Amino acid sequence: MRSSFLSSCAFVLLFAAPSSSVLAADPAPADGESQILAKQLADVLSAAEKVIADNQDLIDDPAKGDKGLGTDVVLTRAAANYQAATGQPFPTTDGDSRRARLTKTLITIIRGVMDKAQPLINEQGKGYKSFLPPIFTDQVAREFSRTVEAEAVIRITAPAELIRNRRHRPDEWEVKVFEAQFKPDSADKAKAFIERVDYKGKAGVRLMLPQYYDQSCLKCHGEPKGERDINGGTKEGKKLGDLGGGISVAVFDDKK
Ligand code: HEC
Repeated sequence: MRSSFLSSCAFVLLFAAPSSSVLAADPAPADGESQILAKQLADVLSAAEKVIADNQDLIDDPAKGDKGLGTDVVLTRAAANYQAATGQPFPTTDGDSRRARLTKTLITIIRGVMDKAQPLINEQGKGYKSFLPPIFTDQVAREFSRTVEAEAVIRITAPAELIRNRRHRPDEWEVKVFEAQFKPDSADKAKAFIERVDYKGKAGVRLMLPQYYDQSCLKCHGEPKGERDINGGTKEGKKLGDLGGGISVAVFDDKK
């Protein structure tokens, strides 16, 4: 089952080095563009999510009112995270290419979610606010998918045994990718997996950008297993660097 899946893969791209090019393994020009777009969307969202993760304690500080985490600040830091993760400058949204347009849509939605979150984030006297990295990412992903559903879909998901919110349950492709590509106990942290495969009956590419737990995640997903986290959920007993889930992106073929 697993080996037949592996051998049926059209190609596997591991974006290990910042300089690695998606075009290098490109079977066709149209594919290359969809791959670049899928990776870019996942990287932009991941870079923004990291800003929320890095500032979780600040966000939940009851003593502070204005947290200084306005939308522009978040995007500036997201751009720095993007550069650090990919070795590339934050993507331009100039021009009318599909890549520029969909990236602009994603950034506009990130802005909207952060604008809307400001009163909550800045509420003085309130500690834990339930404004978490996965919740931020889920809000952005769902609105993006609603907005451009004919062209692309973004969702967050995780291996089935880690799922807290049923809406994030992995589909068949995502299950296979987690099992075959992102082994939880592997020391080699693969960066992304991309494959040409249909989604919802439409041709295109699918990409999984895995998320590995950092220290900020472990207060909810870490040890001791079974204990309550601050959100009232049950800790999974995971460790630093363990696979936590992923940002799953589908980009449909451009009919133009
Ligand atoms: C304060 C607790 C808390 C922290 C910190 C936290 N999470 Fe979660 N995580 C949750 C909760 C609660 C959910 C379910 C959210 C929902 O209902 O949509 C969740 C959901 C997820 C999901 C989606 C799959 C699912 O179970 O629904 C992923 C992936 C995930 N978390 C990874 C992470 C990563 C990676 C980090 C650190 C960058 C992190 N989480 C930080 C509590 C937390």
